[in-house]
Amino acid sequence: MSANVKQLINELPKAELHLHIEGTFEPELMFMIAERNKLPLKYQSVEELRKAYDFGNLQDFLDIYYAGANVLRKEEDFYDLTWAYLEKAHADKVVHAEIMFDPQTHTDRGIPFDVAINGIHNALKDAEKEFGMTSKLIMSFLRHLSEEAAFETYENYFRHKDKIDAVGLDSSEVGNPPSKFARVFQRAKMDGLFVTAHAGEEGPAEYVWEALGILKIDRIDHGNRLLDDEKLIERIAKDKIALTVCPLSNLKLKVVHDLKDHPLKKMLDYGLLATVNSDDPAYFGGYVNDNYIQTAEALNLTEGDIIALVKNSFSGSMLDEETKKRYLKSVDESVNGEDLG
Ligand code: ADE
Ligand code: ZN
Repeated sequence: MSANVKQLINELPKAELHLHIEGTFEPELMFMIAERNKLPLKYQSVEELRKAYDFGNLQDFLDIYYAGANVLRKEEDFYDLTWAYLEKAHADKVVHAEIMFDPQTHTDRGIPFDVAINGIHNALKDAEKEFGMTSKLIMSFLRHLSEEAAFETYENYFRHKDKIDAVGLDSSEVGNPPSKFARVFQRAKMDGLFVTAHAGEEGPAEYVWEALGILKIDRIDHGNRLLDDEKLIERIAKDKIALTVCPLSNLKLKVVHDLKDHPLKKMLDYGLLATVNSDDPAYFGGYVNDNYIQTAEALNLTEGDIIALVKNSFSGSMLDEETKKRYLKSVDESVNGEDLG
């Protein structure tokens, strides 16, 4: 990879569009919060916990990820978790972040919805004050649970309209197709929310068709498997539906076996609006710039590819057109600016 490509990655302002806040829980912070809340952890040390981050597939990861979230009890825990991510994102020149949280991971353990959302929201507001970073919050439903449970979770939206911008769908994909959540997504659309869903991460192209046709999603999280279906590629290119691609996640969860086989470059060549994101960086070994750098290295991405990916991150965001334009202009200014010279 050329020095210029690396410099572009490190210095261009960018948006991150696929990030689970529970997936940013670094072992050091997990131990600190567990101690603060006087809760035991299954692991004796940070090193032992990190060693457990060796996953055969998505489900292996999810089991550890849900267990880790168990020590989050108080509003300050959610604040500290979110703040730690925002500091790292700021260091990576993320100027806009669209963050997912999984309310059911917390409410199912007796933690009130408000405790989680208020802690996360307060950190997002502080990042706006301190770094000028803008953000959106996505309430994600766990697809291994029922649609009825998703509806119960959705009820909280009406008390927190000022904090929630979108709904999402995550967790165990295979066996839990988008169609299972048709009515709750229809309701969210009716309420004017932006809607997104994980589709085609491990699940087939058919699930991506369902996410488009039944859930009427505005964006696709992952979407790797859509490349199995030419008609689907055409449709997604024509409708300019953004893909939030997560290369290091795909590698760690064995969606791809080598980054050299990652479909990101192919997606760009097909004219798809692909973006680069970190998904669950504490578990997958890298924040957003690491995702760009390792993928650029493996796929020989050019300066043009990096600029396109960074621009896609703003174009594929849920920001209003005016703000998108402002951010896109700031990318052009950075590309042309002497600070990159
Ligand atoms: N929850 C957190 N990360 C996820 C992923 N990569 N896929 C599905 N659900 C998730
Ligand atoms: Zn994800």
